[in-house]
Amino acid sequence: MLIKELQISNLRNLSSAKLEPSPRVNLLYGENGSGKTSLLEAVHFLGLARSFRTQHFRQVIQSDKDALLVFAQIVAGDQSQVRPLGVSRARDGELKVRFAGESLGNAELAALMPVLVINSETFALLEGSPAVRRQFIDWGGFHSDPRFIRLWRGFHRALKQRNSLLKCGKIDARVREVWDAELIAFAEPLTALRESYISALVPVFQRILSELLQGVEVELRFQCGWDSKRALAEVLKENFERDVRQGFSGSGPQRADLKFRVAGQDAAERLSRGQKKLVVSALKLAQGVLFHEQTERACVYLIDDLPSELDERHCQKFCRFLETSINQCFITCVDPALMSRLWQPETELALFRVDGGTISQTAAPGEHDER
Ligand SMILES: Nc1ncnc2c1ncn2[C@@H]1O[C@H](COP(=O)(O)OP(=O)(O)OP(=O)(O)O)[C@@H](O)[C@H]1O
Ligand SMILES: [Mg+2]
Repeated sequence: MLIKELQISNLRNLSSAKLEPSPRVNLLYGENGSGKTSLLEAVHFLGLARSFRTQHFRQVIQSDKDALLVFAQIVAGDQSQVRPLGVSRARDGELKVRFAGESLGNAELAALMPVLVINSETFALLEGSPAVRRQFIDWGGFHSDPRFIRLWRGFHRALKQRNSLLKCGKIDARVREVWDAELIAFAEPLTALRESYISALVPVFQRILSELLQGVEVELRFQCGWDSKRALAEVLKENFERDVRQGFSGSGPQRADLKFRVAGQDAAERLSRGQKKLVVSALKLAQGVLFHEQTERACVYLIDDLPSELDERHCQKFCRFLETSINQCFITCVDPALMSRLWQPETELALFRVDGGTISQTAAPGEHDER
């Protein structure tokens, strides 16, 4: 997936912005509040029809405007031709997604335009709740196996039914067995897909982490959500009384998690802020690399304030990794002086200055002097 041309209307302070991004590295710089994160948000909107900052789409639509629109010319899937994609959201809630003249559903859009965000929220992969880590695993499951979405939806439907049954109190054993069988029919293959995704991801993550951060070994372990040595049917049966008392199912894929350990300690407790940033970034970058290995397709990295928390040497390593990657990057920073000189001369780098909601392409600092 490659964005050749991007137009944004009425998204936060971006009233009307247009740019032709580089296929490789795009550096967006500007003062606080100028609209840099909003531009990343626009690309995210294009890929997922929602923001990464808020669940309330009205906050993303520019004040006093009726609708936002993000339009792009993209090269998507295994096709080589450039085709138009437009995503608009109106204040009354209407969502329109059109790709090459056809309407798309949310899942079709997500499959078309895989987007990976690295921002201050990404720390939640280490510090946040298991739900964040399940979302991370499921991004991979969704993009690596076409069966994933059906299993995920089927499992959540069955879980909802089981949980409402648990709240009824007195339950016939045969009814319970039927519901459990339905749940297990989705839970087991869903877990197998999650497990195989994580086993494929771990070596890629370790390799990228060793490039970004030397001397820190992070052990990553997948937990399926119940005692993996036992059959889920047995666990559900055994815990049934407890589940009835609690009114929800306490074991299963809805409790899956990832554990990160460094030198035998929880990584969130052990690592420094900058080390954490490199670990969570390596996780997201690894997803993009594995996506390319598995599908021969590219995705888009959205990296908000890349230099924050990092010293110059580690920033440089991060940039080195990005410029060798196949994926298109949109990177924001406040001050372009450091960030624009960390790239190799052959890297296709485009610089954009963001100022009060307007975006203009600029030359790299120093380029004028050489002419
Ligand atoms: N719905 C909206 N309508 C109009 N403007 C908005 C809306 N929501 C936010 N803004 C404004 O848009 C501007 C851009 O915000 P954005 O978060 O993109 O800035 P930024 O360049 O990333 O800044 P920073 O460097 O501080 O992260 C801010 O001034 C913000 O107040
Ligand atoms: Mg910002």
